[in-house]
Parts: sequence; C-alpha cells; structure tokens
Amino acid sequence: MRLSVIGCGYLGAVHAAAMASIGHEVVGIDVDERKIEALSRGEAPFFEPGLPEILSEGIASGRLTFTTAMAAARGAKVHFVGVGTPQRADGHAADLTYVNAAFDGLVPFLTPGDVVAGKSTVPVGTAAGLAPRIESTGAVLVWNPEFLREGFAVKDTIDPDRIVVGVADGQTVDAPGILREVYAPAVAKGTPFIVTDLATAELVKVAANAFLATKISFINAMAEIAEVTGADVTQLADAIGHDARIGRRFLGAGIGFGGGCLPKDIRAFSARAEELGRGESVAFLREVDEINLRRRDRAVQLVLDGLGGQVFEKKVAVLGAAFKPHSDDIRDSPALDVAVRLHGLGAHVVVTDPEAIANARAKHPQLTYEADRDEAIRDADAIILVTEWDKYRRELSPSHASTLTAGRVIVDGRNGLDPTAWRAAGWTYYGMGRP
Ligand code: UGA
Repeated sequence: MRLSVIGCGYLGAVHAAAMASIGHEVVGIDVDERKIEALSRGEAPFFEPGLPEILSEGIASGRLTFTTAMAAARGAKVHFVGVGTPQRADGHAADLTYVNAAFDGLVPFLTPGDVVAGKSTVPVGTAAGLAPRIESTGAVLVWNPEFLREGFAVKDTIDPDRIVVGVADGQTVDAPGILREVYAPAVAKGTPFIVTDLATAELVKVAANAFLATKISFINAMAEIAEVTGADVTQLADAIGHDARIGRRFLGAGIGFGGGCLPKDIRAFSARAEELGRGESVAFLREVDEINLRRRDRAVQLVLDGLGGQVFEKKVAVLGAAFKPHSDDIRDSPALDVAVRLHGLGAHVVVTDPEAIANARAKHPQLTYEADRDEAIRDADAIILVTEWDKYRRELSPSHASTLTAGRVIVDGRNGLDPTAWRAAGWTYYGMGRP
C-alpha cells in the first residue's frame, strides 16, 4: 500500500522505515531539511538499534523515500501524522503547533477515501477538533496511538502488543479495515486489534503512560519508606512482583523516569483534565511527578554523604547521560540532571555514556565528557551509576574500578549493581532504597 508519514522524528522515522520493511511503499515527510537529507542517505538521526538496517534496506528497495515536499503525500492511501507534541514553554499542556501545521499542510493533497491516521500523543478531544478540517476532502480521520519504547522501537512498531484505532461516528470509509491491511503481519499473528471512538484511542495512550509512570513512582515511594526503616526496596519489588496482578516489570526503583514521553505526557494529561473540570481525577499524577523528581535529590545527597558532606572540587564520575540504556536520548534525563546538580555544587563532574555524549554536550557544555569509561573513573573520588548500560552495570567489576579510582564510594542510582561484591572489595556502596 502507498503510505505517507508526516513528521520524521523518533516516531515517524521508525514508522516509515518499519512500514517499508513489511512491504509498503512509503514516503516520509518532514520540514527539517537536514533530517530528510540524512534519512535519504540511510542515516538514522538518532541511536536506535535496528533502524539503520531497515532504513538502508528500504531505500535500496526503492520503497522508502524522504522529502520535505508535502505534495509527495498525494496518492498515498493512508497518511500517518507522527509529529511531536512537546510540553508548552509556558506551562504543562501539550504544544499542538506541529500537529496543526501538519494537518494544514496535508489537507490540499488529500483525496476522497484517504485515511489520515493520527499517531502523535495528543490531549483527549484533539482528534474530534481536527476531523472537520479534513472533512471537505472526502478523507477520514482515525487515531492510531503509538506505544513504541525507545531502544525497542523497530520491534514495537512491526510487532506491537496491541493496535488501537479510534474512529469517528458515522464514517463511510472502512478505515479500520484499511489499517488491518497496513498492519497485516501483526494482524495475522493475532495481535489484539481494538477499534474505539476517537476519545478512547487518545486516552488509551496517555492512560498507559500515566500508569507506567505511576508504577515507577509507586516503587520509588516505597524506596523512600525503605530508606527510613532499613528495608530493601529491590527485595520488596521482587516479592510483590510475584503477584501476577502486580507484576515485577516497571518496579525498578532508582533515580526515576525521564525521556521525551512519560514526564511530558503526565503533565499534559493533568493540564487537560483541569481544562475538562476533572483535575482532581488525576491529581495523583502531580505526586507521581514530585516523587520522581525527589529521587534525583536523593541521589545527589548520597554522593554528598559518601564524600563527607562536601563535593567541592571532588572528582565525581557519572556513568550514563541517556534517560535509559539503548538510547542516546537526553530529553528530561534524570542521569544528566543529577550530573548538572553535582556540577552546581562544585564537583568536578566527568560524564561518560556509550551513545549520548554528543547530545549531552550540546545541551550542557559546562560538564566534562569522556567517552572511555575507565578514563572517566580514573582518579575519581566517587562514582555514580545513573544509566544502567551493561558496560557499567554488568561489566565494571569493583576490583577493576579499585585500580583506577582515588576513592571507594559508589552510588548505584539504578540499583543495578551487586552491593555484596562492591562492599567485599572495600567500597562504600549506596543504593536507592536499600540499606
Ligand atoms: C515510554 C513507554 O514505555 C512506551 O510504551 C511509550 O510508547 C513511549 O513512552 C512513548 O510515549 O512514546 P520510553 O520513553 O521509550 O517509552 O521509555 P521507558 O522504557 O518507558 O522508560 C521511561 C523511563 O522510566 C526511563 O527513564 C527509565 O529509566 C525509567 N524506568 C523504567 C524506571 O525508572 N524504572 C523502571 O522500572 C522502568
């Protein structure tokens, strides 16, 4: 099928390449010329495992092209809109500038029977407002939220755990049927395909992210209680996680969640609920946000504790800058925030990360960066692990670290290390919510 994908950021670039990889003819459209040039050469503008391969294959096959010309959307059967909806500069609500611009740009090129499939994460009610804008073209609007995780984006797009399609009342075009064809391999596998109204589809997305954020903040709240009682939050998570109704996933206590999605989505959800007069229904999301941010303070405090209350002119090696492993994304990264705070307290901070240094340096040039892990920890007075790359979590042994550092203080901001092994090697180990 011929498809267009408007917006070639994280979501759009992966979606375009993934759709080409399952056999569709896809044009990716974006206003950013440099991004389009890079994508046209088969270069992914960000680190995402598996993406460069499917980009190159798609381009070589002739089924995948990229352009800045919106007119290239003409003739596609389905137009996916996957532009960004960042947090507004003046508050917590979502900024819909790019969504509105994408629809304005697309309308002149729509033909009767086309399906416009919104994928961007939008405040509930947005799609109902957009539908009349395309009505006169004879195209129909559906909302088809995206649930991909960075680091697993290709797999999540080709083989998602569910497909949600929100449709407006009284549509004559069988838009869900057309999307079943688009996602044919996943549909053939029996992937749940859920057809809803527009509002439900928009809400499914933000509710899922709100739930995940709440789960993380729940366990981090338990970490705070563990810290004053001598309990161990990792054992607690293991034990409650055995209850299938609770489940162990997303109960990783540490410095909390970040990234381009969870933080902004829970804030935008609260802002939208306020607008709808139901602010109290999701008032708990403010607590979720606050618990999350407090964990960064806690991590900084542990470094201070480890160094006798003073970090001024002490060398602190920060292992990680990305908001999570397998990503070079530093948007709202708790790891980088901890590094910046330590720098603000006068520490000589050296940040290392396998993928995110270029992005981190562009945002925080005041910090020192070192690509080589061992050089980063050389002569350090303390180490803090903030992004659980295997290189830091599994492959850094305490005995090896001891040969390089000046001090023997390790703060485990992700509870990824073995406290017994580090203590046995003479280190002072601090976890998050662990004795
Ligand atoms: C998240 C959702 O998981 C996706 O389903 C969703 O599609 C995506 O947002 C989106 O809205 O586009 P992502 O931002 O890639 O995906 O990252 P997650 O894997 O959810 O991790 C988010 C943050 O939570 C990271 O900083 C991670 O370190 C942290 N986290 C995760 C914890 O602190 N503890 C955990 O147990 C799990």
